Amino acid sequence: MNDEAEKTPADAQWARTCEKMLEAAQRRLREATTTQEVDRVRVEYLGRKGALAKQIGRIPRLPQEERPAAGRALNELKRKLTKLTGAAASAVSREAEEAPIRLDPTLPPQPLPHGHIHPISRTIEDMVDIFRTLGFEVVEGPEVELDWYNFEALNMPADHPSREDFHTFFLSDNVVLRSHTSPAQVRTMQQRQPPLRIIVPGRVFRPDTEDARHFSMFHQVEGLMVGEGVGFGDLKAVLHIFLRQFFRQDVALRFEPDFFPFTEPSAQVHCTCAICGGKGCRTCSYTGWLELLGAGMVDPNVFEAVGYDTERYTGFAFGVGMERVAMLRYGIDDIRLFLENDLRFLKQF
Ligand code: DAH
Repeated sequence: MNDEAEKTPADAQWARTCEKMLEAAQRRLREATTTQEVDRVRVEYLGRKGALAKQIGRIPRLPQEERPAAGRALNELKRKLTKLTGAAASAVSREAEEAPIRLDPTLPPQPLPHGHIHPISRTIEDMVDIFRTLGFEVVEGPEVELDWYNFEALNMPADHPSREDFHTFFLSDNVVLRSHTSPAQVRTMQQRQPPLRIIVPGRVFRPDTEDARHFSMFHQVEGLMVGEGVGFGDLKAVLHIFLRQFFRQDVALRFEPDFFPFTEPSAQVHCTCAICGGKGCRTCSYTGWLELLGAGMVDPNVFEAVGYDTERYTGFAFGVGMERVAMLRYGIDDIRLFLENDLRFLKQF
């Protein structure tokens, strides 16, 4: 395109001007060590208001015969500048990639985002800690359980009306998702001889319609103590010590007669409301009492199912719903919050 023949004095003059601009840009690019610095030079020369645009803007005001020469030279300059800044940009980014990592041990560490212990896990942990100090040992049982352990051995033979109280997911005729943690009592007693003090935390499942108080999966802790001469007084003492420590205040207990097929006698245990101290509030429906757990003396039929000598041994058992206790403890009025894993809820603990 730029034939020697077409060269005019104006060409030579514009070539010099452009050459100078190119050299200046080259100097600046050599000093640039970061992508940002290279980019700054690029904008200064090639940007909408850059040096090149300024020169191009001058063209209409040049004498008519000089304009083609200016156009040619500036186009050429643009091409070279684009190439140079492109090369400089890739050079600095390559250098940055290859540069050794500089370690400054005096810098403070980046704060690590840390998780939270789930309020149910914390409630179980606290409960387990208290029972450990009373000599209880933690035992676990399977969540998929045989009908025999979930019902039969707990004095609920087939067609026993009490089975109705435990809405249960049946996986097959004789396999269930355990509807309480009590079957773990039976498994433990089958394997060991008294004396025995265990607690069993774990998940249980019931096909209930979900609402603020019900969920198809929740947690229970089962307790069992068996030995010679274990009586109802021991049950009262152990539960009193536990609840006093758990709620970190003195509480009174009230035992109301109840019925469970696996205990005789059975009781529903209430304690003075830990929220209002027994004065009456919304949580305790202005009664001053909270219904907390089921308990009783192990029915001899259960001992017979595991082959324990019913003349020699007696024992007590109890079962607590963890979500219920945690709801009281943290003042939460909807069980679903514990189980839906919404981070906005969990982050508060
Ligand atoms: N398993 C019972 C339930 O889920 C709770 C329970 C009551 C457990 C009395 C016990 C007990 O060990 O003695 O409702």
